[in-house]
Amino acid sequence: MGRARVTANDLTQYDSLADQWWDPRGPFAALGWIAAKRGELIPDATREDAVLVDVACGGGLLHPHIAGKGYRHVGVDQSERSLEVARAHGVDETLLSDVASLPMPDNSVDVVVAGQCLEHVPEPYKVVAECCRVLRPGGTLLLDTIADTLLARILIVTLTENLPLPGMAPKGCHDHRLFINRPRLLEAAAQGGVPLRIYGLWPQARALIPWFFNLRSTVPMFATRGSRVMFQAIGTKTATGRRGEA
Ligand SMILES: C[S@@+](CC[C@H](N)C(=O)[O-])C[C@H]1O[C@@H](n2cnc3c(N)ncnc32)[C@H](O)[C@@H]1O
Repeated sequence: MGRARVTANDLTQYDSLADQWWDPRGPFAALGWIAAKRGELIPDATREDAVLVDVACGGGLLHPHIAGKGYRHVGVDQSERSLEVARAHGVDETLLSDVASLPMPDNSVDVVVAGQCLEHVPEPYKVVAECCRVLRPGGTLLLDTIADTLLARILIVTLTENLPLPGMAPKGCHDHRLFINRPRLLEAAAQGGVPLRIYGLWPQARALIPWFFNLRSTVPMFATRGSRVMFQAIGTKTATGRRGEA
């Protein structure tokens, strides 16, 4: 019998596994840890009617980490079943859309978050341009994704997708050819008026091992200088929305 064929970056998995978004030991467990880290970085809203757009929101794992910060949480995703889960977990509004073309006007959003999204889309730098376009001057852009390095390919695809451990991404979740080139990302965001600061993101090893043995419920993520595997990037849109201005 031949081995089952796996499609890399199989987007249908987000519908078929939608009931597992919030399983703390399921295939999306690590996304919950990263969502908690994002929540720490998102400032409180500074005006009434502030909007946070969660680009490729999946099952809405970010929601508990921004609840109480004063935003209307709008999730955009291509997976209808994931959007149903997101609404059931408190996301205020969901939009079924390709993130390559965000259904929002220019300069209309206070915070744009694109967590573990860019490494799944065919034109990631176009998505970055869209994120910058919809962001208001002074608004915050927060991204996290995977770098286009051999180390990332080995750790995230070869190991993570194949280890028989809890919390591992499903097989076929990633396509290393879509991983993100950091200089191109910085350039795309700068073009859109958002100078970004990049740093690595890593699970705390001393929490990860007890988590595997079910002795902990979650694993904190921490920032590192090296950004060759998973990384996060944050920036503020310039006053005019053009590059190189404060
Ligand atoms: C790894 S999940 C991340 C979900 C969420 N941001 C989180 O961190 O929990 C990737 C998400 O991207 C969505 N996605 C992938 N390509 C997309 C596209 N072109 N347009 C909209 N959503 C997309 C998938 O449906 C999935 O929900």
